[in-house]
Amino acid sequence: MKTIGILTSGGDAPGMNAAIRSVVRTSIYNGVKIMGIKQGYNGLLNGEIEEMNLSSVADIIHRGGTMLLSARCDEFKTEEGLNKALNIIEVFGIDGLVILGGDGTFRGAQKLCDAGIQVVCIPCTIDNDMGYTDYTIGFMTAVETAVDAIGKIRDTSASHGRANIVEVMGRGCGDIALYSGIAGGAESIIVPEVEFNIDEVCKKVIQGKNRGKLHHIIALAEGIGDAYEVAEKIEEKTGTETRVTILGHIQRGGSPTVFDRILASKMGNKAVELLLNGKSGRALGIRCNNIMDVDLDEALNTEKNFDIDLYNIGMILSI
Ligand code: F6P
Repeated sequence: MKTIGILTSGGDAPGMNAAIRSVVRTSIYNGVKIMGIKQGYNGLLNGEIEEMNLSSVADIIHRGGTMLLSARCDEFKTEEGLNKALNIIEVFGIDGLVILGGDGTFRGAQKLCDAGIQVVCIPCTIDNDMGYTDYTIGFMTAVETAVDAIGKIRDTSASHGRANIVEVMGRGCGDIALYSGIAGGAESIIVPEVEFNIDEVCKKVIQGKNRGKLHHIIALAEGIGDAYEVAEKIEEKTGTETRVTILGHIQRGGSPTVFDRILASKMGNKAVELLLNGKSGRALGIRCNNIMDVDLDEALNTEKNFDIDLYNIGMILSI
């Protein structure tokens, strides 16, 4: 292994930069040349590739976003696109790739691997929707951002005696809503994994009011549908003014938390180690606080288990 390439693809996640830094510095430490590929698979198709050095990754461990830039690339999904990528990999003399992103990115990596390229993947997505790993890089930072927002919304919720719905990201996964809802002391948590009953939510609003509660926070995952419809129903059934805040892309940015920086540093280091040991088609993860790696197949096909115990604790604590 003389030359490693690195790219970030799909939705960015805080901590990607810390992972890039780790991959670049571990490669150089081991005497391996490291090439940065810009804009994900797009840059791979177009040859947007430059050699990186120790200074390329200075002053980035604390920064959100990705210094390599990211994109979602439809062309790469075609056979022609794949062939273009394989050609560029050969032309630039890249022996192995470290690929950072979520499940869509991993599927692209699987195609490269099937075509004979040595590939290791690092899970980076705020959604935490990959079943084979307890956590993905970026998730905890997104949760911190959501909890910070919930705290601020709680202030105004109390001043006005309103119910406030805070919609968080996560696609089909309710983890951001679950974790931020519990850490933010939300009265209700609405996620795609648990069937929700509007009357239960309304009952909590009314009971809260009756015992003198001024604020009412509902953490809602974007995957459940229209937050405004839920707000309308709550107003209709409880007579309590209800507002919606959609946090949106604010959750994708910001300085990564310590947890994400450490996770990224460990995974970046391990990714290079795996490539140097001749491994391919592997995805890094963390289980029970241990960094581990599994087959890309397993990473892509392990169903995500929703933490129903944690959800139930949330329900108990918000009676
Ligand atoms: O997968 C990360 C994520 O932020 C999801 O939570 C969200 O649904 C989606 O990406 C938004 O995508 P985009 O940035 O392309 O609008």
